[in-house]
Amino acid sequence: MTLFEELTKDFIEIFDKGKETRIFFAPGRINLIGEHTDYNGGYVFPCALSFGTYAVARKREDKKVKVYSKNFKDLGILTFTLEELKYEKGHDWANYPKGVMKVFKDHGYLLENGLEVLFFGNIPNGAGLSSSASIELVTSVLLKGLFNLDVDMISMVKMCQKAENQFIGVNCGIMDQFAIGMGKKEKAILLDCTTLAYKYSDLVLKDASIIIANTNKRRGLADSKYNERRKECDRALFQLQKELEINALGELTEEEFEKNKHLITNEIDRRRAKHAVYENRRTLKAVDALERGDIKEFGKLMKASHKSLKEDYEVTGKELDTLVKLAWEQEGTIGSRMTGAGFGGCTVNIVNNQKVDEFIENVGKKYKEIIGYGASFYIASIGDGARELK
Ligand code: GLA
Repeated sequence: MTLFEELTKDFIEIFDKGKETRIFFAPGRINLIGEHTDYNGGYVFPCALSFGTYAVARKREDKKVKVYSKNFKDLGILTFTLEELKYEKGHDWANYPKGVMKVFKDHGYLLENGLEVLFFGNIPNGAGLSSSASIELVTSVLLKGLFNLDVDMISMVKMCQKAENQFIGVNCGIMDQFAIGMGKKEKAILLDCTTLAYKYSDLVLKDASIIIANTNKRRGLADSKYNERRKECDRALFQLQKELEINALGELTEEEFEKNKHLITNEIDRRRAKHAVYENRRTLKAVDALERGDIKEFGKLMKASHKSLKEDYEVTGKELDTLVKLAWEQEGTIGSRMTGAGFGGCTVNIVNNQKVDEFIENVGKKYKEIIGYGASFYIASIGDGARELK
């Protein structure tokens, strides 16, 4: 049985036979470089993965929305109505699709009927691969599909970010939603997070693979620490603005930063800003190296990115640092760094094809010895963005 058939069968078991269903998908994402730059008006370089969130859906005659997730079977079917879309703690994961419906409605998109939706995600939860943006985008493409909405992907990306910021209360940037909405097979996206200008870059690595390594550390407190970093950067920007005419840290070159960093009085804020400025420039250098076919240089910049996230931005922690350190000790490692918000979650590694098995075995074994529990490894395949599956 294909996954498609299996999910349709599950849908009928959970709801009932009734009318025909349609199936939608949105991927997860990894970011290759450009971390904590999106909300600082900088560049990011993410790509969409081939695993993600599936949604089998159909319209109802009334205004009720009934949702079920195979990943949270204990919670059963959760029910709400399109007339009252408000955050409810007990609705747990379902607040994500609910938030998206609310933002669509607020933007004037007509959702005339209720829905039945079965969700299933194969992104490891809490791994920093954006399972939340994935469920937001899959909800968007299903609303567009079922209600024939005249809405483009970038508008949906923005509405999903809004749902996350305002409905869920996580003050994230635009990177995750953009990568998941606009991803393309075997391409990474260089995105200017201020203007949303973007370009695709080929990600066909001849002799190397991208390996995702999951620390398996739950990202506790990640949201509050994330919001704290944002505040630190805002404070640094505010002080720089006393002398400089800038709207975001991403506008500065390294030299401009060095010349003006004395304006930032707090030492911690100064280091946060330094990361934002340098990481942003590093991202452009990395894309340039990749396009020149200089994968080694790309790897070096990944190394520098991790160091900066560890020492200046302080969002790594023992588990991520251990995985990255062990990766670099392996022969055949071209690049390794944390990916996503940090505080646990995953690393992204570029490894010579011939050394992949050895990498997984050795890094896995040593990580377990040091940390006390195992890491998980996935060979990333870079896929297309959110869409209906036919
Ligand atoms: C999370 C956020 C993104 C971005 C990254 C860090 O994934 O959702 O907007 O800020 O962290 O680069």
